[in-house]
Amino acid sequence: MRLITVLYLFAIVVCVRCDYVYITKYIQVPVDHFSFAKNETFKLKYLVNDTYWQNSGPIFFYTGNEGAIETFAQNTGFIWEIAPIFHAYIVFAEHRYYGDSIPYGNTSDPTHLGYLTSSQALADFAYLIADLQKSLKHNNQGARSPVIAFGGSYGGMLAAWMRLKYPGSVQGALASSAPIFQFPGLTKCSKFNEILVSVFRSSYNDSCVRNIKKTWKEIRDTTATSDGKIKLSSTLKLCNNLTSTEDVTRLTDWLNDVYSNLAMVNYPYPANFLASLPAYPVREFCSRMGKSGKPVLDLLSDALSLYTNYTGQIKCININSSTNDFGEYLWNYQACTEMIMPMCTKDNIMYEASPWDFDKYVDSCYKTYGIRISRDDLAILEYGGKDALYTNVIFTNGLLDPWSGGGFLKSASSAYAMLLPNSAHHLDLRASNPADPDSVVTARQRIQDIISHWVRGL
Ligand SMILES: *[C@@H]1O[C@H](CO)[C@@H](O)[C@H](O)[C@H]1NC(C)=O
Ligand SMILES: *[C@@H]1O[C@H](CO)[C@@H](O)[C@H](O)[C@H]1NC(C)=O
Ligand SMILES: *[C@@H]1O[C@H](CO)[C@@H](O)[C@H](O)[C@H]1NC(C)=O
Ligand SMILES: *[C@@H]1O[C@H](CO)[C@@H](O)[C@H](O)[C@H]1NC(C)=O
Ligand SMILES: *[C@@H]1O[C@H](CO)[C@@H](O)[C@H](O)[C@H]1NC(C)=O
Ligand SMILES: *[C@@H]1O[C@H](CO)[C@@H](O)[C@H](O)[C@H]1NC(C)=O
Ligand SMILES: *[C@@H]1O[C@H](CO)[C@@H](O)[C@H](O)[C@H]1NC(C)=O
Repeated sequence: MRLITVLYLFAIVVCVRCDYVYITKYIQVPVDHFSFAKNETFKLKYLVNDTYWQNSGPIFFYTGNEGAIETFAQNTGFIWEIAPIFHAYIVFAEHRYYGDSIPYGNTSDPTHLGYLTSSQALADFAYLIADLQKSLKHNNQGARSPVIAFGGSYGGMLAAWMRLKYPGSVQGALASSAPIFQFPGLTKCSKFNEILVSVFRSSYNDSCVRNIKKTWKEIRDTTATSDGKIKLSSTLKLCNNLTSTEDVTRLTDWLNDVYSNLAMVNYPYPANFLASLPAYPVREFCSRMGKSGKPVLDLLSDALSLYTNYTGQIKCININSSTNDFGEYLWNYQACTEMIMPMCTKDNIMYEASPWDFDKYVDSCYKTYGIRISRDDLAILEYGGKDALYTNVIFTNGLLDPWSGGGFLKSASSAYAMLLPNSAHHLDLRASNPADPDSVVTARQRIQDIISHWVRGL
């Protein structure tokens, strides 16, 4: 069973054109917004560009995700492109515990992680917005600037929740590829995988997914012996020999992440991601995986090098690398506490069956963090699940994105659901590109129209 989900994505996307310019600032915020008995504070980082801002223009406020904020500033070209039109003040706010906004410094001590929650992060953002509006007013700029929240993926969930929880701070929100319903009982645990499989199938012929399916059993059979483990490590060019069953599980989890990531960044143009990837990487991956006449594990090795070694610079594959990543450690803490998103697979053309097992999940979380959560629905309790009443929120969902299954898919008054065929994970937030599908071009225009309406209506 796959224990931890892979929302952690955007933070490892390296910027393609690192040319958006901003000033880096810090604000001192409470470690605990919900207690008067504690007065520790820490520095929260945010990036600002006020070049386009004119008298009471809106504040475009990016609600940071699970990673250093600079990455999001460089990968959210849409904000930079429309800010001049709206005379907007641009802010990218870092999420607490990630990047440089760390309450207790770089410690992995789980007892210091207790203030890593989405509600504390939202309170940080509200605190910062209040401070910004005060200082902008002091500049004698007249009326209060309306605030529009923007975010993608987990950041998109935060943008929507910001509007839900702090409607006085944020007048509208764009939540791109935000799986706000990927929680227990709201979306089938198999949904993510079903979309993923359909993307792989439609990108190529069925030889690709059939060959992937064969690899699971091959991996199990080959690694039954220690010689087999060494042989497979060599076939796949791993940096360390597989030596235990835990290592084999780590390998299959890693492969799952690779497939999920490929589907998420299945963009119509080459993009930088870990290393660079070509346009439509799923199709490219499958054109290698779908060949015949070679053992499937050799095909897998060749196909994987597209993902791990597109630049030709990588000597070997480190399937452990992400486990040492501090950001991933933090996101997994969130996934083990508030953000429990059940994942499972049914026996299908690409995968073997793998059920969701909450008890096992809790055990694995306990091993890492010493925390044993008793309920799986904290995010639903806190944000209302499908009963939440969203107003002035735009939800965009790329239909090639496996996360779209847990997205907000049906419009209701001023909660707009936009479904974008041929679009992957928050493609609409990225800078415009000649290869963008029509769905994304049209959505960006519609989003601007709706935001103008919100901003004018105030
Ligand atoms: C804001 O961004 C524009 C375009 O990238 C840049 O020319 C300008 O110098 C930036 N302003 C600040 C204050 O960083
Ligand atoms: C809060 O800060 C004040 C002033 O620094 C200090 O006197 C007080 O003891 C602190 N309270 C707590 C609960 O730490
Ligand atoms: C945390 O560690 C990283 C990398 O080791 C370093 O760049 C960063 O400045 C540290 N942050 C803090 C707040 O200590
Ligand atoms: C899929 O395409 C590959 C390469 O063109 C070909 O070798 C293979 O036979 C095809 N498989 C099916 C099921 O059509
Ligand atoms: C894996 O084990 C084999 C046999 O002991 C050894 O020859 C090889 O160097 C090892 N590979 C790595 C990457 O450690
Ligand atoms: C991965 O890391 C674990 C723990 O650090 C280690 O025991 C194992 O040998 C590593 N496995 C591989 C394949 O790199
Ligand atoms: C990466 O590509 C280079 C150049 O083609 C090759 O020499 C190297 O073996 C590749 N590494 C892996 C892990 O496939």
